Amino acid sequence: MTRSFIRRSWSSQTPAITVIRLWLGITWIYAGWNKATDSGFLNQASPHYIGAQLTGYLTHSPIAFLLRHFIEHATLIGWVVMISEFAIGIAVLAGVALSLAALGGAAMSAGLWLSTSWSVHPYFLGSDTAYIVLWVVLLLSLHQKSSRNNSRTGKAQAKLIPNLKDRREVIRIAAVGVASVAAAVLGGRTKKQIIAPLAGTPIVKLSAFAVGSTMNFQATDGSPAILFRTKAGVFAYSAVCTHQGCTVTYSSSSHLIECPCHGGQFDPSQGAAVVAGPPPTPLAKIKVSIQGSQIVQG
Ligand code: FES
Repeated sequence: MTRSFIRRSWSSQTPAITVIRLWLGITWIYAGWNKATDSGFLNQASPHYIGAQLTGYLTHSPIAFLLRHFIEHATLIGWVVMISEFAIGIAVLAGVALSLAALGGAAMSAGLWLSTSWSVHPYFLGSDTAYIVLWVVLLLSLHQKSSRNNSRTGKAQAKLIPNLKDRREVIRIAAVGVASVAAAVLGGRTKKQIIAPLAGTPIVKLSAFAVGSTMNFQATDGSPAILFRTKAGVFAYSAVCTHQGCTVTYSSSSHLIECPCHGGQFDPSQGAAVVAGPPPTPLAKIKVSIQGSQIVQG
C-alpha cells in the first residue's frame, strides 16, 4: 500500500466526499478500537459482553429471529464485528476496495439500526440511519465517478468486487486485513480491566445451564421457583400454585408446569397461563437475567 496510491485516492474527489470518507473511516476505526479496548466486550462475566447485548436486542428487534442464532456464537460474532469495523475504516481511509468497504459499512449500519437503535423514537435520535445514508452517498459517488471515467476510456463499468487478478490490489486488501487483526490484538492488550459487579443474586452459572434446560431454585424470598433457558433467553416463575399454594413442578413430557394437588396446569411458554384445573391466575413471574457468566435473580 504505497503512499502515492493513498494520495491518488484522495486527490480526485469532491470536498464533500473527502469529508464523508474522513468521517466514516475515522468513526469505524474508533468503533473497532472502542470494542477492542473494552474489557467487557468479549468477557462473558461482564454486562457489556456482546452476548448480553444480543440477548437484550431480542425484546424489540425485528430481526430477533436471526439474532437468536448468534447468541451461542457471541464471542466469534464479537471478533468478526470488531475486525470488520477496523477493516472498513482502514480501507476507506486508504482507498482500498472502496466500493466494497462502503457496501460493508452500509450493511453494518443497517444491521445496527435493526438491532440496537430500532426502538429509538423518533428515529432521527438514533445515528445508524444517518450512517446508512452516508455510506450509500459514498457508494453512489464512487459508482458515478467510475462511470464517468469508463465512458471516457471506453472501458466496461467498474465492478463492486475488487479485481483479484490484479496482484497489487490483492496485496493491498491483504494489508488491510493484517492491519485490522493487528489493531484488534493491540487494543486487546491495552484494554482496561474493569469487571462490573453483578446486579442481582446468582442462581446458576450460564455454562452449567444449557439452552433447553429447566431447574428448581429458591427465590430470594425463600419460596420455590422454576428457571427456564430457551434460545430467546432466561425466564422464571414462582413454583407456588395460585390455587391453594401447593408446590408445582415442570413436566418434561407434557411441557407444562403441573400442580399435584388438584390437577392445575400452567404453560411456561405462554407466561405460565392456566391451561387446566382450578388455579385462578397464572404463576407469578420472577425477574431473572443473564449477567455475564451468571444467571441472576433481579
Ligand atoms: S393447589 Fe394447585 S391446583 Fe389446587
